[in-house]
Amino acid sequence: MANTLPPTYDRNGRHPLSPKVDHDEIARFNFLTNLNVHIGQRVSPGNRTAFDNRVSPKFKQKTGRPLETRQQVRDAMKKDPFYQCWAALRRNTMEQRQQAGRHVVLRQLDDLIERAKEHNDGKETLKIDPSAEAPRYLAAVDNHCMPGSYYTEIVPDDVLAGANYETGLFVTTAGSMSSKGDGGGRSIVNFVRDRFPDFSPKRILDLGAGIGANTLPLASAYPDAEVVAVDVGAPMLRWGHARAQVLGHDNVRFIHSDGDTVDFEPNSFDWVQTTMFWHETSTSAIQSMMKKAYDLITPGGLFLNVEQPNFKPETSLFDQFTRDWDAWYNNEPFWSKLHVMDVFEVMKAAGFQSDKMFDGGTEADIERGQFQSWSSTVSRHKAEAKDSGDAKDNSYKGERWYLFGGWK
Ligand SMILES: C[S@@+](CC[C@H](N)C(=O)[O-])C[C@H]1O[C@@H](n2cnc3c(N)ncnc32)[C@H](O)[C@@H]1O
Repeated sequence: MANTLPPTYDRNGRHPLSPKVDHDEIARFNFLTNLNVHIGQRVSPGNRTAFDNRVSPKFKQKTGRPLETRQQVRDAMKKDPFYQCWAALRRNTMEQRQQAGRHVVLRQLDDLIERAKEHNDGKETLKIDPSAEAPRYLAAVDNHCMPGSYYTEIVPDDVLAGANYETGLFVTTAGSMSSKGDGGGRSIVNFVRDRFPDFSPKRILDLGAGIGANTLPLASAYPDAEVVAVDVGAPMLRWGHARAQVLGHDNVRFIHSDGDTVDFEPNSFDWVQTTMFWHETSTSAIQSMMKKAYDLITPGGLFLNVEQPNFKPETSLFDQFTRDWDAWYNNEPFWSKLHVMDVFEVMKAAGFQSDKMFDGGTEADIERGQFQSWSSTVSRHKAEAKDSGDAKDNSYKGERWYLFGGWK
């Protein structure tokens, strides 16, 4: 375990569009980041002690049988004062992160909107559809405690959700998404190059792309491909498009649409990607959007998803309980269901063939020597990494991403 601290907020992935941050705001982000690291690395292990020494024996003593399901573990743990304290702290750091990010963005929102407009107005690469509506499941909660979620607009040309999302990513992940928040995308590229070295896509769709932070590495890796990022949150896309432009990506198109109804020709993409997308949707949306993806992918093309891995037969009840936590207390509504849903069955129903499906894990691509050592800030990550395939390099102690997909 590293004893060094994460880099300070103001040295993390800044670009010309980044909101200005003053001394106190930087200090607040640094404090929250380090609090997250502290909770994840030093406080979280106490949950295991609570489980082993108090919760589990007490349950057995009272009922005469051992804990048998993750729901039972959660119900039993909820009564433990240490766990209550830890859970309140975790929830609170997320709420504070949202408020800190919104505070920074709101006080300069007019300026940020104007600066984003300079890169957005009149560009063919950004299409906002005023008639696009957020699906019901998205409107039901403030995803990971973000007031208004991804799509709410409080003023014309709003960029708040996107700017806040980027601003606070460092706090939430303590740099484990790498300095530009693109660690997922870079890991995807590593996975594809490693597993499918001859694959040379010409048209890539990233569904639920958000601000496109994880889309840009795909555009860099395949410079001859046309890359399209689709999302239903207009403020995410306005921010993402302007950000892509200032980062030198003027060839990525950002399209505002519900993925379920997005209007492209069938067989028109040779790669459809989703990254951390399905856990914020619903059973019926997964079913219909996987059908949509199948329809859009050209024969011989790739469908690839970064998501929560299923629990394995060997995943302990305690690890299941730990990995589920965000569904209950971090407003990640479909998180827990994805731990048990057979996504390959859904893919089959969408048209994919079983013998062309695959899954695997890949190391989170974090700048070595900078972010890697404190990346496991959230207790569930260790359990998640165990369920995400075997690490090639056992010296690596950071996060891993799970991927599943198939060829059409
Ligand atoms: C957790 S974010 C992930 C964003 C991005 N893929 C990344 O890796 O940073 C999920 C995104 O999915 C979008 N989303 C949810 N449901 C959607 C739908 N039906 N159609 C399009 N986008 C959707 C949200 O607006 C949000 O930006």
